[in-house]
Amino acid sequence: MCGIVGYVGEKVALDVVVEGLRRLEYRGYDSAGVAIVTNETLWVAKKAGKLGNLEKLLAEEQLPPSGLGIGHTRWATHGGPTDVNAHPHISSNGRIALVHNGIIENYVTLREELAAAGITCESETDTEIVAQLVGQQVSAGLPLVEAMRVVCGRLRGAFTLVAVDSETPDGVVAARRNSPLVVGVGEGENFVASDVAAFIEHTREAIELGQDQLVSITPDTVKVITFDGEPAEVKPYHVDWDLSAAEKGGYDWFMRKEIYEQPRAVADTLLGRHDANSQLTLDEIRISEAELRRVDKIIVVACGTAFYAGLVAKYAIEHWTRIPCEVELASEFRYRDPIVGPTTLVVAISQSGETADTLMAIRHAREQQSRVLAICNTNGSTIPRESDAVIYTHAGPEIGVASTKGFLTQLVACYLLGLYLAQVREVKYGDEIAEILRELSAMPDAISEVLDDIGPVLNLAAEFADKRSVLFIGRHVGYPVALEGALKLKELAYIHAEGFAAGELKHGPIALIEDQVPVFVVVPPRGRDLLHDKVVSNLQEIRARGAKTIVLAEEDDDEVSRYADVMIKLPRVSTLLQPLVATVPLQMFACELATQKGHDVDQPRNLAKSVTVE
Ligand code: F6R
Repeated sequence: MCGIVGYVGEKVALDVVVEGLRRLEYRGYDSAGVAIVTNETLWVAKKAGKLGNLEKLLAEEQLPPSGLGIGHTRWATHGGPTDVNAHPHISSNGRIALVHNGIIENYVTLREELAAAGITCESETDTEIVAQLVGQQVSAGLPLVEAMRVVCGRLRGAFTLVAVDSETPDGVVAARRNSPLVVGVGEGENFVASDVAAFIEHTREAIELGQDQLVSITPDTVKVITFDGEPAEVKPYHVDWDLSAAEKGGYDWFMRKEIYEQPRAVADTLLGRHDANSQLTLDEIRISEAELRRVDKIIVVACGTAFYAGLVAKYAIEHWTRIPCEVELASEFRYRDPIVGPTTLVVAISQSGETADTLMAIRHAREQQSRVLAICNTNGSTIPRESDAVIYTHAGPEIGVASTKGFLTQLVACYLLGLYLAQVREVKYGDEIAEILRELSAMPDAISEVLDDIGPVLNLAAEFADKRSVLFIGRHVGYPVALEGALKLKELAYIHAEGFAAGELKHGPIALIEDQVPVFVVVPPRGRDLLHDKVVSNLQEIRARGAKTIVLAEEDDDEVSRYADVMIKLPRVSTLLQPLVATVPLQMFACELATQKGHDVDQPRNLAKSVTVE
């Protein structure tokens, strides 16, 4: 939540910062603002609404050229999305401009303290308090980096802070605790940002900042210290994707582009994970095989779409390894006092690697001595850094707020984890694992097949644009697919959508079925006879009550086609892998329906890509 950029160098800082904000707008789009420093003067422009509003303001105000600037795009927490609450916030002495991502939990006490010192805040934000506190420290004679260090020591909560001081116009200072911050290292210029996408156009060399660290950048230097004032060890890395991956490439939406990238993303996530003899080698796993053999329970923690990937993982992992696997919403996990210990493997799934609920869940798990394995798409993000092991999904940057290729690659990583555990614990024969890996390697083509035949789904979206409610049902791994289809539709099209386990319909939800209500039915492959037949029965039940059935089933499944008002054909794949193909039409349906309704598909209302507050 909230995107932050800071720049120092020879380029026009305003251009670099605004371009960076454009690439970070997925993180929040309630307001945007910039500050630049020139001739010991701060220039600030900020505006409620999307970045476009700020750009209009900048076109009118024409700030002077400067090589030093910061910017912010906001997802509101404290105080509504107004001009006044937009960042940057300025200290009363006029020296400090500061932007923030996160929540300062002790802001009420700090605000009272400032009031007692005669400083009143203009905005309702927790951020302005920090700007005022830093302002007090520089007025007392501390250099900006020291002022920030002192203030950070007094803050509770989660924060990435980026600040400039008009009286020391040679650099930017940034700090982080529980919120993301990366440094971009250029030649004669340096950057700080919430995400490398903000500076990928300028440099692919980055440094990940650790917890409770501060960085000060000038055009030629990058200095990292801890909140205790000690020099910190830096971890440089090279970003393995480029600007083209962060652009729309001719598509109307990032989301649509990312849906089409799925065959490649799945292939990349499978790449290099096993040798010619199908021996899985997940080299990012830093938990010994002996420890993995001792695991007696797996708990998957995740939120939203990643949670649904976890639900699929449960079916695969339990079936392949016979280890009991629970799946828990990360936001609920630590508050129910879960039974976890040294033999529990906690698997945290997160595309962004920054989701606060998931982060807090893994911290709780580690406090109970559990081992934590992260499945994550963002190199250098907090969740993998705080985990004992990582399986990175290689989806490339996911910019559309609604997760698509993130989800499919999370599924792949979950399958790989299940197979790896089966191999280590010797509960599956090598040839059985090899067979599943062969099936997995055929999935990119199967997904492409679905995409090549997506026309009927697009037509359906046009036809359903006026519907007020859509239902989704499925069984087994088709159940999480139904939940995911409903979530996509809710978040993008803003219409009522519910996913149900098909077997649960008769226990209540069937009352929702009335004439012409669209119901998407995910039918399992015929390989699972019993399961397949049960869903066919459910299909008949809802059709008899007037539902319009949109059936996702294997291409030559003649048995179901007679109960389908609309048939969406899926390639033949095995039961456990079916979510990789069955989800794709549902993603596209939501994307297209939202487009038809004139919504902003990449930036749905009230949402943000990376939810860094609990
Ligand atoms: C929905 C969506 C969200 C995320 C959730 C977790 O389309 O994108 O539900 O899946 O906020 O995010 P990550 O995976 O970054 O932890």
